[in-house]
Amino acid sequence: MNMDMMKKLLALAVFAMAGGMVIISPLAGAADWPPPLKEPLYKVVDGVQVDPDTMQGFRVWRQAACDRCHGPEQQGLVGPSLLESLKTLTYQEFAVTIRDGRLEKGMQSFGTSEQVMNNIAKLYAYLKGRSDGAIKRAKVQELESAESK
Ligand code: HEC
Repeated sequence: MNMDMMKKLLALAVFAMAGGMVIISPLAGAADWPPPLKEPLYKVVDGVQVDPDTMQGFRVWRQAACDRCHGPEQQGLVGPSLLESLKTLTYQEFAVTIRDGRLEKGMQSFGTSEQVMNNIAKLYAYLKGRSDGAIKRAKVQELESAESK
């Protein structure tokens, strides 16, 4: 192999490595979970009308049927009251509990539910709004689009 060819091969190797890094970086970004919270966390008018993201949080709560164990008004049933829990639980603790569950204690894992995993910040915003007492009942409505902007 002559020198020229060596250089070309070397250049190719460096190029391939750089390319590999570009491909890997978005995967490393997946470790960035849970995603950051919005500021303000939620908007609520008249105790029941909420911004679209918080509304989405409510839909996920319904579709994942968290109410089976935490009660229709989050007041607690076989699982604890989330109105109380979210006064002290951090967002990180909340997210990890839902992702991994606490299987030996009856809290199921939602780590394989794309819907829950992709909307964890919105679910938190909704439940935090309930826990703060700003959202007056479990069932909410979406704010008129003009108001939510
Ligand atoms: C099959 C019943 C069941 C379902 C369904 C369920 N949970 Fe739980 N959850 C529990 C139980 C029981 C606990 C208490 C575990 C313990 O003692 O640490 C718990 C604990 C939690 C906690 C931690 C509370 C604390 O004070 O540490 C959060 C937050 C929570 N659940 C949220 C949710 C959400 C959100 C959903 C729906 C996506 C959900 N759970 C669905 C039974 C359930």
